[in-house]
Amino acid sequence: MASARIRLGVIGAGTMGSQHARNARRFVSACELAALQDLDRGRAERLAAELGGANGADGPAVLSSPEELIASSAVDAVLVAAPDAFHAELVLACLAAGKAVLCEKPLASSPEEALRLVEAEAGAGRRLVSLGFQRRFDPAHAALKALADSGALGRPLLWKGVHRNAKAAYDSSGAFILANSAGHDIDSSRWLLGAEVAEVSVRGLRSREELPESSRDLLLVQMIMADGRLASAELFVSADYGYEVSAELVGQRGSAATAQPDRVCLRSSGFRGSPVTSDWTAPFQEAYLAELAAWIETLRDGRVFPGASAWDGYAALAVSAAAAASLAEGKPRAVALVGKPRIYSN
Ligand SMILES: NC(=O)c1ccc[n+]([C@@H]2O[C@H](COP(=O)([O-])OP(=O)(O)OC[C@H]3O[C@@H](n4cnc5c(N)ncnc54)[C@H](O)[C@@H]3O)[C@@H](O)[C@H]2O)c1
Repeated sequence: MASARIRLGVIGAGTMGSQHARNARRFVSACELAALQDLDRGRAERLAAELGGANGADGPAVLSSPEELIASSAVDAVLVAAPDAFHAELVLACLAAGKAVLCEKPLASSPEEALRLVEAEAGAGRRLVSLGFQRRFDPAHAALKALADSGALGRPLLWKGVHRNAKAAYDSSGAFILANSAGHDIDSSRWLLGAEVAEVSVRGLRSREELPESSRDLLLVQMIMADGRLASAELFVSADYGYEVSAELVGQRGSAATAQPDRVCLRSSGFRGSPVTSDWTAPFQEAYLAELAAWIETLRDGRVFPGASAWDGYAALAVSAAAAASLAEGKPRAVALVGKPRIYSN
């Protein structure tokens, strides 16, 4: 594949699929956006038209099914942005076709399902699956990682995360939030501390009466890493005022925290500060683009993707499942992982 443009097919043309397709078409020169597919064909056609395509023109073709897109000889690599429930079967189909796939998080619907993907990839003996934990490409998180690795903080001892949405996008039950949203925070803690999670403990509450009785839209997740270090995340999916993600590392000799990219300072009516958006796609646009560009470049150059792998997706889901059990039972839960296959050791 060296030096040729990678021909990309995108499955799912909703919020995330559209953002990735626009990034691929407009900003990633090593990539050719070759095909789009969505269960709602009209949605894929509108996106293709926006991006100068739809069959015949200079832009993406619209294909009829995920199977057709994955099998297409005009598609080298696949980006999966369909809903969570379809991820495992689509990734498995890409593995069977021998095509590289960047799957939006979560990797699958359960750790057991994710493990089947890990085993299939390890069995094939080469890394084809990459996962969209885009914080690893966010400039602020990457700076935090570089500081941790430089030794400037001494040994990092504690990771603290805050993850707030203005309104629950899909579902405000604790189990759903822990599987769908908390994956980012679990991955952040594993990546920034460089260790697996050994135990997790979760408490949650329903923040307002208008939410269903079963809602647990404010969650506190505490984790103990395999080497005894600590991590904690607050997830609040109906925080009302806006969308915000932050992380702090506390080390033996200092601490460092990310700052949202506050591009303007507003002064008005006795107030000085920065507006907070409720659009969750905006603060991470730079990260989504950097992730996609890095993935495409590694495919083109035959290198291993520096972002999250199928193993990271499996590990995150194992912690999510233990976290959901902890929330239901009101007590800490151990996290048990299988041995890590050698293809994930670098
Ligand atoms: N990395 C992140 O920060 C981030 C943020 C939000 C969502 N996500 C993930 O991205 C994925 C998509 O989320 P979204 O917010 O774009 O959802 P969305 O509802 O906006 O879009 C999903 C699209 O997939 C289509 N679709 C449904 N079933 C399909 C199928 N079987 N095959 C093909 N297309 C199908 C739908 O018609 C829709 O257009 C989810 O898995 C979600 O968890 C990731």
